Amino acid sequence: MNCQEGLEDVIELVKEHEEEIDCVLCTGDIAQDASLNAYNRFAAHISELETKQLWIPGNHDIIASMEQALSNKKDALEKTLRLGNWAIIMLNSCVEGHIYGMLSEQELEFLKAELEVMRYEDRHVLIAIHHNPVPVNAEWLQNHSLQNTQDFFDIIDEYQNIKAVLFGHIHQDFKISRKKVLMLGSPSTSIQFHPEHDYFSLDRENPGYRWLSLHGDGTLGTGVRRVVGKKYKLDVSSKGY
Ligand SMILES: [Fe+2]
Repeated sequence: MNCQEGLEDVIELVKEHEEEIDCVLCTGDIAQDASLNAYNRFAAHISELETKQLWIPGNHDIIASMEQALSNKKDALEKTLRLGNWAIIMLNSCVEGHIYGMLSEQELEFLKAELEVMRYEDRHVLIAIHHNPVPVNAEWLQNHSLQNTQDFFDIIDEYQNIKAVLFGHIHQDFKISRKKVLMLGSPSTSIQFHPEHDYFSLDRENPGYRWLSLHGDGTLGTGVRRVVGKKYKLDVSSKGY
């Protein structure tokens, strides 16, 4: 489909529904071709929301090009954001040349160190990562998910203050609870993957976004909004993306 059109429509939808936005979390696969042009365009569109934006890379992205596009907006690549009595931690799960995700030793160390700080500061924590750390119903996505999930959960299971893990990559609305921590997937601003099929398959749901409302008592509200009243041209015979 025309991803530019989807992005523009979702941004209009956000403007329509969200009165106050503290931050936009861009959870990766920002540009299919990783071109500087695409990143510049994306940054310009998100900037219309006039709020902070945080980016993490997905398997389609090239970090050097992202950094180049954000040379005047370097804070979009910050890995930790404190908001009220919450902290948002952004993780890089990308492995160059591969679709699947993996958290490097360095990234795991960073996560552990940040969680120690946040526990000391008595903050609730939301973690954002591109690759899904839990299985989804669409079997074909499993080979492409985060591979070293045990390393990840060995760390986060040590902390009681983690409230949610948010991810992109699976292009679908997804929400389960794992040991009292919410695992949240988001729709894409472009194509949607069918949540149940065991082979690559497009869903006819429209593009959308997930909103999150982080409350001072550590609870959070969340939901998905999609563009309504519009039919996008999709290449449903596509065997992949
Ligand atoms: Fe991805």
